[in-house]
Amino acid sequence: MDISGPEEVEPFLSPVFEDADPDRAVLAVIGLGYVGLPLAAAFAARGRRVIGYDLNAERVLRIRAGFDDTGEVASADLQQALAGGLVPTADPEHLREARIMMVCVPTPITPDRRPDLGHLLSACAILGPRLAPGTVVIFESTVYPGVTEDVCGPALADASGLIVGQDILLGYSPERINPGDRDHRVDTIVKVVAGQGDAVVDALRRLYGGLNGGRIHCAPSIRVAEAAKVIENAQRDINIAFVNEIALICERIGLSVHDVLAAARTKWNFLDFRPGLVGGHCIGVDPYYLSHLSQMIGHEPEVILAGRRTNDHMADEIADRIAFRFREVCQEVLRPLALILGATFKEDVPDVRNSRTPQLARRLVRHGFRVAIHDPWLSGEKIRSLGEVEAINWPKSKDERVNLVVIAVEHQDFRERPLEDFVDLLIPGGLIADPKGMCRGLSVFPSLNYWSL
Ligand SMILES: NC(=O)c1ccc[n+]([C@@H]2O[C@H](COP(=O)([O-])OP(=O)(O)OC[C@H]3O[C@@H](n4cnc5c(N)ncnc54)[C@H](O)[C@@H]3O)[C@@H](O)[C@H]2O)c1
Repeated sequence: MDISGPEEVEPFLSPVFEDADPDRAVLAVIGLGYVGLPLAAAFAARGRRVIGYDLNAERVLRIRAGFDDTGEVASADLQQALAGGLVPTADPEHLREARIMMVCVPTPITPDRRPDLGHLLSACAILGPRLAPGTVVIFESTVYPGVTEDVCGPALADASGLIVGQDILLGYSPERINPGDRDHRVDTIVKVVAGQGDAVVDALRRLYGGLNGGRIHCAPSIRVAEAAKVIENAQRDINIAFVNEIALICERIGLSVHDVLAAARTKWNFLDFRPGLVGGHCIGVDPYYLSHLSQMIGHEPEVILAGRRTNDHMADEIADRIAFRFREVCQEVLRPLALILGATFKEDVPDVRNSRTPQLARRLVRHGFRVAIHDPWLSGEKIRSLGEVEAINWPKSKDERVNLVVIAVEHQDFRERPLEDFVDLLIPGGLIADPKGMCRGLSVFPSLNYWSL
């Protein structure tokens, strides 16, 4: 890995690219979400002029007012970025000024689990007519190998009338930040870069290296960089699927998977993954990009799709096991009330994209439960929009007690609570279901039943 600091580079081959000098070019970031805003803010905080363009005018207004609703950029940092050179805008005409553009738009999947490149194509259609010759366009969105050069390149050429590889140059640099993670940030993690030709690679090395102290890995081609990103997430998905499968086996034979993993982890090369619900827009989505490519070229991706199947069904499996256990210990309760704690796709973020809690809730409803959800990161309106559920605050009085508590997401707010708080939520004799084993101390509390994977 090359983690050397920024160094002198050859100028671009063609003088047309003079204004795309990585040290002084006006930058643009397209898509100011979880990925784009931290990136734009990091450059702007260093005094760079950054046109931050997003289709969503409401989001732009909030950013201009100094608020990042994703919670990734603190207000003080956003204010610093706005003072430093960040220009949030919903007017694409402002893009004309930029000579290095970074595209950070979503890459979700369609309902039939195929790559949905619609946002990328829309971004290309918006950018194209506003591209000046001599612009470098870098894609950061997660895609399968070939999308940047074979899909986005032609789309930009069509929309701009320019020749890709000559009038404009493409780069790719996948984003690896992890929302809610305060340790792995834009300015600390190693960035993989690739581009059309050595001059672009050097420009990207210099551009991003200025943000993260030169922690740059130069991949030999755009396709390699695209592949690296998508396999990082597919690998994680498969490893979680493996421990999820182990968890289901252990549960059937009366073993705690957490005890089993604690023992196995003492081996030096045992991989440390935990069972759980895989949601969000990356780990549960990106493997479908990889499998789509694989199928296009005639290879059926057995392992990748097996992992997806396991993780996609985990919420149903957990709900079924909980309902079974509930009926064992509380047979006589009619229309029991369940409280699910946590509805975001992971802990300590306000993001509900592909969250598995709605799936868990729907399955519990099918088992005859009435379901309420509490999530300190979400408004009542947001929770109700997830469907078939009530939103409630942390119950305060005995009248609000429930028959079943399911700890679905390990928010810090929950982790910091004493175990008695969870006991107080429950009608005596009820069940606490704690799939991830966050509150295993509850297993010894009298007057309640405790279930974990
Ligand atoms: N969020 C993460 O943790 C993460 C981490 C690594 C990589 N990624 C990848 O980064 C990309 C962006 O993800 P995100 O989480 O930031 O998405 P996001 O939904 O948080 O933000 C995307 C933004 O792009 C805007 N947008 C959509 N189409 C647009 C267009 N045509 N022009 C301008 N703006 C447009 C949306 O309004 C939104 O504000 C995806 O490919 C994702 O897979 C995300």
